[in-house]
Amino acid sequence: MKILLTGGAGGQVGWEVIQQCKLTQHELVALALEELDITDETQVQELLTLHQPDIVINAAAYTAVDKAEDQPEIAFKVNRDGTAYLARTCNNLKIPLLHISTDYVFDGEKTSPYQVNDKANPQNVYGASKWEGEQILRQTLNEHIILRTSWVFGSYGNNFVKTMLKLAETRTELGIVADQYGAPTSAQSIASCLLTLCERYEQNNVLPWGTYHFTGTPKTTWFDFANNIFKQAQYLNILEKQIKINPVTTQQYPTKAQRPINSQLDMQLTKTQLSISPPSWEDDLSIVLKTIKAKQ
Ligand SMILES: NC(=O)c1ccc[n+]([C@@H]2O[C@H](COP(=O)([O-])OP(=O)(O)OC[C@H]3O[C@@H](n4cnc5c(N)ncnc54)[C@H](OP(=O)(O)O)[C@@H]3O)[C@@H](O)[C@H]2O)c1
Repeated sequence: MKILLTGGAGGQVGWEVIQQCKLTQHELVALALEELDITDETQVQELLTLHQPDIVINAAAYTAVDKAEDQPEIAFKVNRDGTAYLARTCNNLKIPLLHISTDYVFDGEKTSPYQVNDKANPQNVYGASKWEGEQILRQTLNEHIILRTSWVFGSYGNNFVKTMLKLAETRTELGIVADQYGAPTSAQSIASCLLTLCERYEQNNVLPWGTYHFTGTPKTTWFDFANNIFKQAQYLNILEKQIKINPVTTQQYPTKAQRPINSQLDMQLTKTQLSISPPSWEDDLSIVLKTIKAKQ
């Protein structure tokens, strides 16, 4: 089948989709920002019309959560308007769209995992821009899947794992937030989930359209995630020295954008409707660290 990927190889998820597609028979048209800027509706129309894909994966997004507080116009332009242009064009051309969204659409007040239909109440500009993008997509195009995910990491691109390893080069002690609960998710597992959906669509010509959650398991905190990163990195000899991690509270570590205290996403619907299970982020972390080591 012919898959058109926005965001190209520049992003964490986009890069993984490209790597995994190489192992399949699919024809992949991966368009980087320079080739397709999703905020340019004419370009979106022209390129989708030219390539006539069977399905579109939108991996393009503005993801700089703190920077978005100072650049709301750009965040909304990409995450809301860009999504709207893709949705409109896909609707006109009758092409389904697989789109990725975020745990940051929720406010974090709930103490248990968020269900798909729980009330969204984003607490930062990035979350608000992604939430508006979701809503426009739902209103515009029936044949869509929105996959909400969280705490994305991988061997490629910028993420928490890479930041921790970088900090470990110069520091021996770190303070990491220990009161925010969520779930790390590897870009590799997200790409695999997206390609599974593409294959199901190819087989059946339909998918159980709608919004789903897809994250790693089990729930954790940034503090525990960091501990796990350093433990595994030492085991793999990526890191030689011991790093002391001190738990800090969200209040002690203020950031420009407010983040939800609890952003666990319930995956029940994903399991029952899509027959897709949550991946173990610890196993995925091991794969990512081995890949990072191989590149050293
Ligand atoms: N990262 C996370 O922790 C996280 C958490 C939850 C959900 N998500 C969602 O998961 C999806 C993938 O995230 P990711 O981590 O792979 O993001 P990423 O690494 O930031 O990649 C996003 C890609 O989109 C490109 N892009 C930005 N503006 C564009 C535009 N106008 N047109 C076309 N491409 C554009 C970026 O190019 P440049 O790099 O050149 O700007 C980059 O290559 C996003 O929808 C994101 O909201 C991510």
